[in-house]
Amino acid sequence: MSEQTPAKAAQRSKVINVLRYGAGSLLLGGALVLGLYGVGGGIHTSMADSDHKDDDHSYRQYEDYRNASAAPQNALYAAECSSCHIAYPAKFLPARSWQALMSGLDDHFGEDASLTPEQQSGILNYLTSAAGDDYKFSRRLDDQETPLRITELPYFLRKHDEVPQRMVQDNPQVRSFSQCDSCHRQAAKGRFNEHEVDIPGFGRWDD
Ligand code: HEC
Ligand code: HEC
Repeated sequence: MSEQTPAKAAQRSKVINVLRYGAGSLLLGGALVLGLYGVGGGIHTSMADSDHKDDDHSYRQYEDYRNASAAPQNALYAAECSSCHIAYPAKFLPARSWQALMSGLDDHFGEDASLTPEQQSGILNYLTSAAGDDYKFSRRLDDQETPLRITELPYFLRKHDEVPQRMVQDNPQVRSFSQCDSCHRQAAKGRFNEHEVDIPGFGRWDD
């Protein structure tokens, strides 16, 4: 440990933490995880109590890693579906929901959001291929349910049940939960970390 600079050790410790939190979902071979963990274990233990914030920070990095893939990966979708709200991450709804939604664009929540047939099928292809039938947002839905809104999913409601109406519907700078990026400022980049929430007129969310 003597030849390690503190910066390197700290960096190392973060990597280990990221691996720790992410081990379940990272597609790394178990051996690789164990190998890295083994190498860094001593360093991490020696820094474990240095401060709690380090852990928190690492968790944040992990969250960013985990959500990075939520950002839309399709130019047509990002261009055509982001003028009235963000282009929502495809994996926040199951494929059947995108199908239903895309077949009613002429009356889209009271708006006409029609596209050319080519645009419509191109976007639908992307959305269904990247949809999140097994992602945490929809995992527990009954197959018979085809929600058209992310904001009505039980997972969404649970995550936002402590956010009062005066900060949303009664807040002239927000008005609707559908405007994710009013509060999750990095939402268009697929980032929804609860530690980064900043509600217009109310400031940072501190839980
Ligand atoms: C002309 C404006 C407009 C365009 C363009 C548009 N939308 Fe919407 N969208 C809306 C409105 C209005 C709502 C309802 C927002 C509310 O309730 O506050 C909505 C809601 C949604 C929701 C549900 C959000 C929630 O509350 O969970 C989804 C999903 C959605 N739109 C997808 C799309 C897709 C996909 C496209 C591109 C094909 C698109 N939108 C293009 C106006 C638009
Ligand atoms: C009025 C502000 C506001 C809007 C609009 C909003 N959120 Fe949130 N969101 C929050 C707050 C506050 C939290 C943290 C709640 C808590 O910790 O109790 C949160 C938490 C979350 C989380 C959990 C994050 C984590 O780190 O576990 C997700 C995911 C999320 N929001 C997604 C969305 C999506 C998707 C939309 C749009 C469809 C949206 N939010 C709209 C305020 C908002």
